[in-house]
Amino acid sequence: MAYETLIVETRGNVGLVTLNRPQALNALNSTVLKELKAAYAAFHADEAIGAIVITGSERAFAAGADIKEMQSLQFADIYKSDFISGWDDIAKARKPVIAAVSGFALGGGCELAMMCDFIIASETAKFGQPEITLGVIPGMGGSQRLTRAVGKAKAMDLVLTGRMMDAAEAERSGLVSRVVAPERLLDEALAAAEKIASLSQPSVMMAKEAVNRAFETTLEEGLRFERRLFHSLFATDDQKEGMAAFVEKRKPAFKHR
Ligand code: CAA
Repeated sequence: MAYETLIVETRGNVGLVTLNRPQALNALNSTVLKELKAAYAAFHADEAIGAIVITGSERAFAAGADIKEMQSLQFADIYKSDFISGWDDIAKARKPVIAAVSGFALGGGCELAMMCDFIIASETAKFGQPEITLGVIPGMGGSQRLTRAVGKAKAMDLVLTGRMMDAAEAERSGLVSRVVAPERLLDEALAAAEKIASLSQPSVMMAKEAVNRAFETTLEEGLRFERRLFHSLFATDDQKEGMAAFVEKRKPAFKHR
């Protein structure tokens, strides 16, 4: 498929998506959403792909939903079409997705990064939910995912004032997992994704499901869910192989990777 707003490549066993609307600082419009869905679907269908990295440019991961596309929309229309609900599909990717963020990750850009399983940031990254300065509020999960990631105080500060936080503050707050020099960003994200892709896919996907369940349920139910998944992995060849390889002091040769 030919993409207009993305560059879609494979690097080894990793799917790499680069947002590519430089003239709009990678603002997220309906074409980006349509193409991201198609790229994710293709990576999911490709057995060889074990993880996905999504990135932007050095200047901007994405500066938000496309304000020019939204500007003249009317309530009745966006309510009826449930405008931007399609982004929920992006958050539901089953294979792990890493966001590699450099520059601005604002509004929908910050929300897209938070839909990923974890965020690796360049020292230049700036995160924020500036929708309030436009007379609206976050609409792609910012008020919910940011609050879960950084807690109420920091989320309220960002959502109510619209200010940006730098990479150091984002790491301190728990929004990003690592901060690296700008020139290391893509290599670091690809290496993390390649490591994940080298592991047994059922265990990787179940690990992702188990961590995500922590946001949806009580501790008791979450612990039960985790334990049942843990039990089920003993039905896989890869559990036998992984444990045998450890005991025999060799590298595992996983079947389902
Ligand atoms: N939508 C559409 N176009 C955008 C955009 C956006 N979110 N962000 C930047 N652009 C465009 C600018 O209009 C500009 O285009 P022109 O050259 O045609 O004028 C181009 O990208 C470059 O931007 P700037 O000239 O503004 O660059 P800058 O370096 O001076 O400022 C910035 C950078 C601080 C990120 C600034 O562009 C900015 O504030 N952008 C908007 C950020 C924002 O409010 N995001 C939230 C959007 S709403 C949302 O996301 C809702 C939701 O939750 C679903």
